[in-house]
Amino acid sequence: MSGKDPNSITITVEGSNRSASLPVLSGTIGPSVVDIRKLYNQLGMFTYDPGYGGTAACESKITYIDGDAGILLYRGYPIEQLAEQSTFLETAHLLLNGELPNEMQKHEFEMGVMRHTMVHEQLRQFYNGFRRDAHPMALMCGVAGALSAFYHDSLDINDPESRRINAFRLIAKMPTIAAWAHKYNIGQPFMYPRNDLDYAANFLYMFHAVPAETYHSNPVLARAMDLILILHADHEQNASTSTVRLAGSTGANPFACIAAGIASLWGPAHGGANEAVLKMLGEIGHKDNIPDFIAKVKDKHSHARLMGFGHRVYKNYDPRAKIMQRTCHEVLAELGIKDDPLLDLAVELEHIALHDPYFVERKLYPNVDFYSGIILKAMGFPTSMFTAIFAVARTVGWVSQWREMIEDPEVRIGRPRQLYTGPTQRDYVPIDRR
Ligand code: CMC
Repeated sequence: MSGKDPNSITITVEGSNRSASLPVLSGTIGPSVVDIRKLYNQLGMFTYDPGYGGTAACESKITYIDGDAGILLYRGYPIEQLAEQSTFLETAHLLLNGELPNEMQKHEFEMGVMRHTMVHEQLRQFYNGFRRDAHPMALMCGVAGALSAFYHDSLDINDPESRRINAFRLIAKMPTIAAWAHKYNIGQPFMYPRNDLDYAANFLYMFHAVPAETYHSNPVLARAMDLILILHADHEQNASTSTVRLAGSTGANPFACIAAGIASLWGPAHGGANEAVLKMLGEIGHKDNIPDFIAKVKDKHSHARLMGFGHRVYKNYDPRAKIMQRTCHEVLAELGIKDDPLLDLAVELEHIALHDPYFVERKLYPNVDFYSGIILKAMGFPTSMFTAIFAVARTVGWVSQWREMIEDPEVRIGRPRQLYTGPTQRDYVPIDRR
């Protein structure tokens, strides 16, 4: 590639006189991108990028990550400042609408969300179709997708009012759906949402409370929950968000798109990592076993990974992991847990990995999931709920990205191409001659 004009780049096919001039587009920060949309017309070639590590699939104004510097911005605001000073619903307003709300907008937004926390009574019956031991993520994929059967009046994605109200519905109902998945697992009555509580406190209420006893909300734990939700709210074009955008590009309704996002989040390389971290710590069991585990991780044939470490974009400490680590200590102190063997093990594992050339050379640092599981476990969540909580938080990011895409006049159906390496054309062989 070469290019004298900073706004374009020329690709020349060596040994021929064929070349293509492609525009270079610049964002407000971050690397510029080569616009390859005309490459096929000019050269008859596609680009090849399995895993999309070098491909910008869309233009977005929502979230920015500088992976080398360990920076995460929501609409320009550093995650550290939002974690310290904002609330989840204020952050949700920011992600969805682009700006922090003023007092009145904040109040209206909170009312708008909290007024939609109940789900249709008939939706309760969906849970009975699942085995009692169904994973909460299986329940969430099914029940979130089923929401589309309840709002026929607002499925027109081209109607801004429908988009607005469905954003409220999705953000508001996801904690109810997740908390009920847990209640269904353990056979306790479903608790209806309480709109006098804030978003995070209401989630903890629906999760922990039972009708037979008075429930006392713990403000320290509610704040920790709120913080966990802020940290997971959006993360630009990750696998689940890209799934939501791809599904949405076909014109599918937002409930179906979010169900697709939940399914994508479930994998252990993505949102399922927080559950996998606790499983891994349990398997390591004791600090003495760390060297053997690290040796296994480094052995290419074992396929073992240090879960909660490494990231496609961060080649530095994930800024969310630093905040999680701090919060972890605060939550354990609030709960009076002086010595948590899992935390001790995690701290030791992190220390060893951060000084091991294998991890240093590959720039593998703790990500958001390394400490979140320890906090959630201490707060009384079973490991199977960890990814479901991630899904509750990420719903606002998915909805924001979905809305941004639908409102983009240039949006087209997402349709990647391929490098075909299968058989060339051949004739059908009748079965008696095979
Ligand atoms: N443990 C051991 N080795 C690792 C790890 C790890 N956790 N992550 C990457 N590597 C190695 C990998 O084997 C490869 O080595 P080599 O160059 O010798 O072949 C190198 O580092 C690059 O790895 P990669 O698989 O090409 O990197 P990727 O960008 O495709 O994968 C990842 C990113 C997050 C999937 C990966 O780091 C991983 O599997 N981590 C563990 C799972 C995890 O914690 N996921 C949560 C991500 S953050 C929350 C979220 O986004 O949902």
